[in-house]
Amino acid sequence: MQNFISLNQIDEVAQKIRSRISIQPVVGIILGSGLNALADSVQEAVHIPYSDLPNFPVSTVQGHAGRFVIGVLEGKPVLVMQGRIHYYEGYTMGQVTLPVRVMQRLGVPNMIVTNAAGGVNAEFNPGDVMLITDQLNLMGMSGLNPLMGPNLDEIGPRFPDMSQPYDRAYCDLARKIAKENKITLREGVYAGLSGPSFESPADLRFLRLAGADAVGMSTVPEVIVARHGNMRVLGLSGISNKANLDGSTVTTHEEVIEAGRVITPKIEKIVRGFLRGM
Ligand code: HPA
Repeated sequence: MQNFISLNQIDEVAQKIRSRISIQPVVGIILGSGLNALADSVQEAVHIPYSDLPNFPVSTVQGHAGRFVIGVLEGKPVLVMQGRIHYYEGYTMGQVTLPVRVMQRLGVPNMIVTNAAGGVNAEFNPGDVMLITDQLNLMGMSGLNPLMGPNLDEIGPRFPDMSQPYDRAYCDLARKIAKENKITLREGVYAGLSGPSFESPADLRFLRLAGADAVGMSTVPEVIVARHGNMRVLGLSGISNKANLDGSTVTTHEEVIEAGRVITPKIEKIVRGFLRGM
């Protein structure tokens, strides 16, 4: 596959999805590691495995199912990605963010993005949920911005603004829903790294100094592409492990998946309330 995804390639995917569904989704939801269960609550669901779609990368990570689930959640037509594509799987940035482009060509104006993340803020504990208020584009700073290559003028400008990656009104709504449900909602900056290795203690101390509250291997490219096309974004991180700033503990994928079991019901409550209230 060529390095940059063309509008034609995006439209081929969008066309195929459109031919299988009869609703117009208003929210795209990307589910992170261990958070897949929410997709099972979608009503009148149509399932489209990524492997049925042209030009589409296949999610290879354990804990990621790899299909779109399109249907209704809390009365809102949604398009859920059950399993996301990560850069560390070896795909290009264009492939990683193709699902967001497809949402845009399907006319989806909003996105909820969830992920599992390491807590860099010392006050965060495994099982916490963090509202993402801003992000550190560490991959992009070192040359891996998903918008590199020919600009898709039909979707957005060459030099898009990033002053509000996460929609402020949506943040307010999420705070309100969390409060109503008595869920402690942390807040902070999500730093996106490529992975797949977890961070060294020095990496983590550097991230803390740089203002990160959580760290993960996704989300940032997806949000940049979403904002390029002017989608409004809500971001939620499930804190699956405490950052190991002094090297005294180890981090494993198993604990990330395990923490998902505690985090999923909280994220589900917030997402449901958000969909009802938006
Ligand atoms: N680091 C990076 N990504 C992650 C982590 C982490 O500690 N936990 C879950 N995803």
